[in-house]
Amino acid sequence: MARILITGASGLLGLNFVQETMTSHEIIAVDRGKLVNAPFRILTSDLLAPGAVDAALDSIRPDWLVNCAALADLDTCEDNPELAQRLNADLPAQFAKACKARGVALVHISTDAVFDGRAIAFYTEESVPNPLSVYARTKLEGEQAVLAGNPDAIVARVNFYGWSLSGRRSLSEFFFNNLSGRKYMTGFTDVRFCPMLVNDTARMLVKMLEKGLHGLYHVVGPQAMSKYQFGVEIARRFGFRESEIAPKSINTSSLIAKRSNNLCLSINKLCTDLDDVPPEFSTGLNEFYAQFQQGYPQKIRSYAQ
Ligand SMILES: NC(=O)c1ccc[n+]([C@@H]2O[C@H](COP(=O)([O-])OP(=O)(O)OC[C@H]3O[C@@H](n4cnc5c(N)ncnc54)[C@H](OP(=O)(O)O)[C@@H]3O)[C@@H](O)[C@H]2O)c1
Repeated sequence: MARILITGASGLLGLNFVQETMTSHEIIAVDRGKLVNAPFRILTSDLLAPGAVDAALDSIRPDWLVNCAALADLDTCEDNPELAQRLNADLPAQFAKACKARGVALVHISTDAVFDGRAIAFYTEESVPNPLSVYARTKLEGEQAVLAGNPDAIVARVNFYGWSLSGRRSLSEFFFNNLSGRKYMTGFTDVRFCPMLVNDTARMLVKMLEKGLHGLYHVVGPQAMSKYQFGVEIARRFGFRESEIAPKSINTSSLIAKRSNNLCLSINKLCTDLDDVPPEFSTGLNEFYAQFQQGYPQKIRSYAQ
């Protein structure tokens, strides 16, 4: 049983990572005050406060640190480039050095958005990034700082969906909320990605830590699809009407930050080094639906009430 310090525990990945590991490991979750009713240990901390990183590591003395804290909304990053820099680049650099000094195994979470999307094929870990937005630029800077400061760390470029604390954080919740409310929605037909159920992302990260991997890895689902197709798959699985999703081009959207059209990442390196393959998209979607039937969204939201 490892002692794991998880940052960003109120976030989509952090909270689901805690769910996946809280019975098998000793979990300490960093939170800024949202998780008032959580059934796991909380360390209340604003990680940008002076000395917060060293204080967290020295008080908890974890075996593993999983850094899910970020400014992860692309448009918010465009409006707050300094905060994006501090959270997405400077903070991971601090974690890298602090973990290296203490012998703590670090997983830092990055993103598929570091690429410009112009490639026709899937991007590998060898592909050259070309960030299009403040978010992508600061995330790339963060992953480079982590690997330079701590070559033993894992940097995982991810893309995931699932149930969140707010009920509005993920693309899957966007489609679910609009489909169940019979509201008009659009789905981009010209943005392709490799979605993975966030619980599977957490399980893959634990396997990577257990196997002692280090370096840069793509940790996404094995199947590529458009965001429109993703919405259609959710509609079909939940029995909603897929015709209520209007296909649309991202070129006609009013989003602020520039987005890549191709977010498809190769997971060959991950599968080879882990000697394992992530679950099929349909397996993850079935679990997402089963979680809904079993009251999982209400359960995790009760932690904030
Ligand atoms: N969502 C996706 O599909 C996706 C795709 C690719 C990559 N990623 C990456 O995956 C990681 C997790 O993303 P996510 O979607 O789970 O993010 P999220 O839901 O926006 O959560 C971000 C977390 O960071 C915490 N945080 C922000 N500022 C903090 C501070 N000063 N001190 C302590 N904690 C702070 C937030 O706490 P508060 O709740 O208190 O603000 C929240 O728990 C990020 O690195 C992101 O770039 C996400």
